Amino acid sequence: MNSEQAFDASELADLLGDKQDGEDKSLMSILEDVQARYRYLPKDALILISEWMGVPLSQTYSVATFYNAFSLKPKGRHIINVCLGTACNVRGSRKVVERIADRLGIEPGETTQDGEFTLETLNCVGACALGPVAIIDGTHFGRVNAAGADKLLKKLGVEGRKE
Ligand code: FES
Repeated sequence: MNSEQAFDASELADLLGDKQDGEDKSLMSILEDVQARYRYLPKDALILISEWMGVPLSQTYSVATFYNAFSLKPKGRHIINVCLGTACNVRGSRKVVERIADRLGIEPGETTQDGEFTLETLNCVGACALGPVAIIDGTHFGRVNAAGADKLLKKLGVEGRKE
C-alpha cells in the first residue's frame, strides 16, 4: 500500500489562510509547512503558493530546489541518511549504504513503494570522529557498520525485507 499523502488544494488554502491571519508567511515557512504535511512539495502546491504569494513560479521552484530540506519527489515516512564523506567512507560507510539498500530493495535516492523509507546519502555532517554516521529521522547514530545497520532497520520493523 502506498502511504503517500494525497495533495488536497483546500487543505493548502486553509494553511495559507492561517498564514494570512498573522503567522509568518514567508515563502520558506510555507514550503516548510507543505513539506512537513506531504513529505514533498507537490507541483500543484507550488503553483498555488506562487499565486497566493504573488511571486513567479520560477522563484518558488528555485527556493524549492535549492534547499536539501525540500523535495519535489515524495519521501518516505522514515528518512535514512548515511554519510559518505571522506572520514565515514574510509571507515566503511559505503558498505552500510549497500546493506540498507539491499534490505530495503531500493537504491540511494529512492523511496520504497509503500512510502515507508527513503534512503539518502550526504557528505560530512561534522561528526567525523563518530563515523560511519547514519541519521534516521533526524537522530544521529555513530560507528554504524553493516551489522549495526541491520539492528537499526530492525527497530524500524525492517527484517529481511525486499520489495
Ligand atoms: S565524513 Fe561523515 S561526519 Fe564527517
